[in-house]
Amino acid sequence: MCATVETECTRTESRVERVAQDAGGHRPPASAAQRRETNGRVPQLAGWWMLRVNPTWLTAQIKPHFKLYKTSTICKSETHQIKMDPEMDSQLKIGFIGAGNMAFGIAKGILSGNVLPVNIKVSAPSSRNLGRFQELGIAVTHSNVEVVCGSDVVFVAVKPHLVQIVLNEISRHVTDRHIIVSVAAGVTLQTLEELLPENSVVIRLMPNLPCVVQEGALLFARGSHAKQEDGALLRSLLHRCGLVEEGPEAWIDIHTGLSGSGVAFVYLFAEALAEGAVKMGMPSALAHSIASQTILGAGRLLRDSGKHPAQLRSEVCTPGGTTIYGLHTLEQGGVRASTMSAVESATERARELGRKSAAGSRK
Ligand SMILES: NC(=O)c1ccc[n+]([C@@H]2O[C@H](COP(=O)([O-])OP(=O)(O)OC[C@H]3O[C@@H](n4cnc5c(N)ncnc54)[C@H](OP(=O)(O)O)[C@@H]3O)[C@@H](O)[C@H]2O)c1
Repeated sequence: MCATVETECTRTESRVERVAQDAGGHRPPASAAQRRETNGRVPQLAGWWMLRVNPTWLTAQIKPHFKLYKTSTICKSETHQIKMDPEMDSQLKIGFIGAGNMAFGIAKGILSGNVLPVNIKVSAPSSRNLGRFQELGIAVTHSNVEVVCGSDVVFVAVKPHLVQIVLNEISRHVTDRHIIVSVAAGVTLQTLEELLPENSVVIRLMPNLPCVVQEGALLFARGSHAKQEDGALLRSLLHRCGLVEEGPEAWIDIHTGLSGSGVAFVYLFAEALAEGAVKMGMPSALAHSIASQTILGAGRLLRDSGKHPAQLRSEVCTPGGTTIYGLHTLEQGGVRASTMSAVESATERARELGRKSAAGSRK
């Protein structure tokens, strides 16, 4: 896989690295460290070299040959263009430690990109969650070490209190070949780095449940030894899981409150919407299906129009009409303040769990 990131707001100093191939000769052994230096691309032939060029020029050259995926970024003026190389995707080995819902959601997203099922391996102590991976053609094992030894990118997808046990188990098998990506809530980069060999490349990723339908909201933060190209590689791997953003680690707990827990806040609202309709006489099944479609439609319109929610809301409010009456009732109930407080409480709780997990790992 080759992931190229073009950043308009840092364009003056941004450079795009390209691995160019030289005809003839034999291929040198490519370590994962080399692969990372080359944005994840394994050189096919000897004599390969790095060409640093103006990104605008390079984009013009490669555009006819590669599919360019556009993603939004943490900076509105930035445009990230990720160059996918299907040949490279098919070479990258991906491992999952833990076979739960999150691992499954991410694996499904990765598979709908260019990664082949034969290049993914998943481990869990029991077989109860492994069947659904096997149905996708993914190899399964009960050995975490086997996953690490056969993978370039390893997702650690166990419950937070098990991260320490798992990392202690795999630590001596982690080399500069690996990118270790933890999805465990509250487990900090510092904790992860302390539990792994020095200089390990670590990324902390916070997904949310809609990853399973490839509509997730994912935020990641790079550890002290993870390079920008490691982040670009992860971003390109995950681009089919939903929105993928990078930010400072301090935002991960906020993202947990906003989006990890936020999913449950939206479900609560969906339930309440439907119950309102049931109270007014609509059959429950119909009310729930209309409520879920309403939330889906409102969400898609919000995302795809790029408009501020207040603008969309005002477009629905006819003066003196039904919606403004309903909104007035919601405001009287304090829905806005309660929702803000809910994100705040969930964020604080994520921070608290993070402090506990850091203290636990130092014992
Ligand atoms: N679910 C979410 O919405 C969400 C959102 C953001 C982040 N996360 C994070 O994602 C991680 C996984 O959550 P989840 O919801 O996917 O959990 P889950 O469904 O409970 O899955 C946990 C998996 O870990 C496996 N496991 C347990 N001990 C293990 C060990 N020693 N070695 C290897 N695997 C082991 C379990 O094995 P068995 O199959 O044998 O039980 C299971 O497959 C958590 O750290 C959570 O904080 C979850």
